[in-house]
Amino acid sequence: MSAFDQPIDRRGSDSEKWRRYAGRDVLPLWVADMDFAAPPAVMAALHRRIEHRVFGYGGPWPSLTESVLAHLESEYDWRIEADWIVWLPGLVTGLNVACRAVDGAVLTATPIYPPFLSAPHFSGRKLSRAELACTEDGWQFDHSALKAAINAETELFLLCHPHNPVGRCWSRDELLEIAALAEANDLIVCSDEIHCGLILDADKRHIPFASLSPEAARRSITLMAPSKTFNIPGLGCAFAVIPDTQLRHRFAHAMRGIVPHVNVLGLAACEAAYRDSGDWHRELIGYLRANRDLVTATVNGEKGVKMKSVEATYLAWIDVRELGLAKPATHFEAHGLGLSDGADFGAPGWLRLNFGCPRSTLEEALKRFSTACRAA
Ligand SMILES: Cc1ncc(COP(=O)(O)O)c(C=O)c1O
Repeated sequence: MSAFDQPIDRRGSDSEKWRRYAGRDVLPLWVADMDFAAPPAVMAALHRRIEHRVFGYGGPWPSLTESVLAHLESEYDWRIEADWIVWLPGLVTGLNVACRAVDGAVLTATPIYPPFLSAPHFSGRKLSRAELACTEDGWQFDHSALKAAINAETELFLLCHPHNPVGRCWSRDELLEIAALAEANDLIVCSDEIHCGLILDADKRHIPFASLSPEAARRSITLMAPSKTFNIPGLGCAFAVIPDTQLRHRFAHAMRGIVPHVNVLGLAACEAAYRDSGDWHRELIGYLRANRDLVTATVNGEKGVKMKSVEATYLAWIDVRELGLAKPATHFEAHGLGLSDGADFGAPGWLRLNFGCPRSTLEEALKRFSTACRAA
């Protein structure tokens, strides 16, 4: 039995995911956190930090920075300088700050994690969208749609890499095409790489956009965090990597007065996650892979619903349009399953299922999924 098989009761806790359906028999497979305990090394680091008993304002320390540098180099072959790091309480903050740091309009590829759609608006920037193409071979960028969505005002491309919700781990060639597009149109690329530690396909690896070339690095803002991979998003610790000094100053300037310090528990957890949680991470990926296979087989075995392969993330993006439901998310809730509504991602008729949970929870959820499909 794996440690990940152990259900932990989150009902009645502070969990956003579980609280939505309090008092109802609905399994929540929506918000993107996992129902797993944090790695043992993270727990030990948090206990040590709590034992200190003083929780004043804090900031990063040398061995923490070193753990980030070492992690990026060993996992992604990406060598960065400590000065390029800007600590943040979260990636959504980073997306919003990136929009405020530019003067022009913003471009993104849909369907997409909802804050990509709201951040430009909150920052008073225009947003243009280019649909991703759903092909026989899976989800891909549609380069003519991207080019058509760019105009003289466009200054920032919000890239989701790996992509939430379609689960793509963009390849080097695909990233090089994005880099060429950025170069040709003088765009800054803000690459949200929060899911980079969750590559499920054994033959794929995450390539940070900024690691492609010095030119790509110069126009990049990379957003990362240990939060998704090590299941500590509630600890609010993330960072941007911005190699270009001027761009980094613009970003830091846009943060002034509105972005708080990163909490000290998040910082302690980050170091332990990156430095001491490799074994836990390897076991997690194996577990998620098996969950992914179960979800794919079940979904693609039902009539009227389908999904492409999930290369990365613990999120399945499911096309339920053929079921002909007026309100798909409500229909599945009525059958005891709480999924994310695709409409929020710019794609009505789709649902997102989070499979970051113990196998027993997933099996029950998939039974409910099949019942809901057949009842449509
Ligand atoms: C692509 C992406 N970016 C950002 C976030 C959230 O980041 P944070 O909680 O650090 O603001 C999520 C969470 O689901 C996500 O999927």
